[in-house]
Amino acid sequence: MAADTKARVKERTEELKNTYHVTPGLAVVIVGDDPASRVYVNNKKKACEAVGFVSEEYALPAETTQEELLALVETLNNKPDINGILVQLPLPKHLDDKAVIAAINPQKDVDAFHAVNVGKIMLGEYDFLPCTPAGVMEMLHSYQIPVEGKECVVIGRSNIVGKPMGMLLLHENGTVTICHSRTKNLAEVCRRADILVAAVGIPKFVKADMVKEGAVVIDVGMDRDENGKLCGDVDFENVKEKCSFITPVPGGVGPMTIATLMKNTLKACKLQNNIAD
Ligand code: GUN
Repeated sequence: MAADTKARVKERTEELKNTYHVTPGLAVVIVGDDPASRVYVNNKKKACEAVGFVSEEYALPAETTQEELLALVETLNNKPDINGILVQLPLPKHLDDKAVIAAINPQKDVDAFHAVNVGKIMLGEYDFLPCTPAGVMEMLHSYQIPVEGKECVVIGRSNIVGKPMGMLLLHENGTVTICHSRTKNLAEVCRRADILVAAVGIPKFVKADMVKEGAVVIDVGMDRDENGKLCGDVDFENVKEKCSFITPVPGGVGPMTIATLMKNTLKACKLQNNIAD
């Protein structure tokens, strides 16, 4: 599915180049040397190249100051060949991620993290959807899994995944519960779910006894197990016996996140150049 989406973006990018002589451009900013962030950023760069975008990487040292980072964001805001700006999170602790996100021009905020874009999503009138939740919705659509009237349980309440995920499910008339570390009887709440989305960041947190027979299980986790092997938030081997659909890690939600980022960057380019969809 991610390959299909990227192929469509590639085709449209060719058209934009030929018809309007514009090429979508994405700037990715990474501060420090978090290994997971490095992998994500490399994958984003590769995807940009594959669809024909201009991709610029700004790899800054961990000691970068807030002022330096804000100055870079301002430069990118004013750069006409850059349509999307993505500051990879998490930032080193001494940096204020809220202030950095607030400094990004909302029209270039292809992550949809800026307050203006978050607010638009709440109101249901958005330009960009946050990449991971939108990728999840696309999977549900593609597999024709109805959301309307379903019990949807999201584990995790982050601004990047949990909260917007709940909102997108709500927009499609799901009955949404968002669980977190203070939720009482978590397993019981999860067992109610027709659609269960795990975004907690704890390896193999969701066990088979937390899943209803026939449920749809979406694993947003990107964790390491006790042997350092990449795994998700769901105990895949046991849960897969019980559910109707399940996404693997790696190779499930991750590629869909990146495909959505490509769609958002293309859309940003069109909006900034007044090109109709
Ligand atoms: N860190 C983990 N996921 C994401 C994402 O989708 N965007 C950014 N900017 N940082 C992240």
